[in-house]
Amino acid sequence: MQLHHTGPPGRFERQAVGVVGTGYVGLTVGACLAHLGHRVVCVDVDREKVDSLRAGIVPIVEEGLPELVAAGLEGGHLRFEVSRPGILAQCDTIMLCLPTPVLADDGLDLAFVEHAVLAMRSELKPGALVATKSTVPIGTFDAVERWLDRPDVLVASNPEFLREGTAVADFLHPDRVIIGAADLRAVDRLVALYGDVHAPVVTTDPTSAELIKYAANSFLAAKISFINDVARLCESVGADIDSVRQGLGGDPRIGSAFLAPGPGWGGSCFPKDTRGLLHSARSAGVYMPIVEAAVESNGRQLGHVVSSATQLLGGSVAGACIAVWGASFKAGTDDCRDSPAITVMRELIRGGAHVRCYDPQANLDLAGATCADDPYSACVDADLLVVLTEWPHFHDVDMDRVSSLLAQPDVYDTRGVIDLHAATGAGLSVHRVGSASRHAPTTAAQPSTRELIPGAG
Ligand code: UGA
Repeated sequence: MQLHHTGPPGRFERQAVGVVGTGYVGLTVGACLAHLGHRVVCVDVDREKVDSLRAGIVPIVEEGLPELVAAGLEGGHLRFEVSRPGILAQCDTIMLCLPTPVLADDGLDLAFVEHAVLAMRSELKPGALVATKSTVPIGTFDAVERWLDRPDVLVASNPEFLREGTAVADFLHPDRVIIGAADLRAVDRLVALYGDVHAPVVTTDPTSAELIKYAANSFLAAKISFINDVARLCESVGADIDSVRQGLGGDPRIGSAFLAPGPGWGGSCFPKDTRGLLHSARSAGVYMPIVEAAVESNGRQLGHVVSSATQLLGGSVAGACIAVWGASFKAGTDDCRDSPAITVMRELIRGGAHVRCYDPQANLDLAGATCADDPYSACVDADLLVVLTEWPHFHDVDMDRVSSLLAQPDVYDTRGVIDLHAATGAGLSVHRVGSASRHAPTTAAQPSTRELIPGAG
């Protein structure tokens, strides 16, 4: 079916909305829809979670979300309830925001979705709409219709494009709203739901909507893999990734977004969605070499970061103490699911290193690693500092102090986030992803703690 734009959303219509699942997606969706003026009930099977949400405790780090939840609770238009029969009976629109764990064959387990749909089947009022919001595999729309078996209930695919850390802003100011439905009444219901959100609406068939989400995440992952490949080449041929990025991104056909090199992409979406797209493609007998290569390149980048750190330690990490800044999969979130930082730390630990990690938000639970309370205590007597997450405040850390604490003056900045000038000025040797040369100290290294502590080192 041809995609067509219906332009900006139409008239806002206040709706009774049920959000099923209060994870990263569901909680943001529920709080934002309440903020837009809808009456929202968020349901979850986890009673403890529901209780703490009712008390206004938001269990994730997400900018602006605690404020929206507090305002929704106070205004009475946002409620949290434990799943129970009849809870969705009055809802006009139900948003499915449920987990879909990965199966051994890279397919996704739809058991949570199936269970929720079967549970709501008999209680939904005629004319209600059930929309899949969190990412689901291609074909889920058909499965939901089948499980519901209610010709009088509408079904739609309405994929989210919420980045963790900026999810509230992404919801309230989206680039586009995708609505996949077979019935125009479903489109109208969702258009009215987003009535006050100013963004182009793309209406299409449900399968295309499901594919748009997978294709978008896979494209972005491929873009990062590409720049990471270029970064490795830069290191070998003596080029500088910052200049190359600038030159590349200046072409509006390429664009500068998602061109930052790093330790590889991670999180709960890109790894899962690239695999999910490949699984769908394989099932359909279609070979997608670019996505295959993006995944392969990502593994290569992670390996490259580990081997570069190993080289900096003289070829072996065994017995080394490594300071790490950053554990979450990117800045702005405490989420460590599929975090490249964790993968790198795990490999270093496997090689015999002891890792001491500081992250401003994430709670690290990794055998072989200890947690530091601040960036400085992570560095005490460490043989190498590796920066794995791009928290902006790493740029403002006092590098003179860092230099005085490290046993060896070596820093490996995989995110290009630390202040190079301050670090080299403090006597540190800085190695970066995508930069051939190490940035040598511009002053003599300060004595390390190892030199200062009698008998140490
Ligand atoms: C991603 C998409 O960006 C959202 O649009 C989508 O809605 C979401 O997945 C989802 O499917 O729910 P998210 O996983 O929060 O959002 O994180 P991103 O900001 O996309 O970053 C993903 C990974 O790529 C991170 O590890 C990040 O550090 C890395 N990255 C990103 C880079 O290495 N370089 C870049 O230039 C950008």
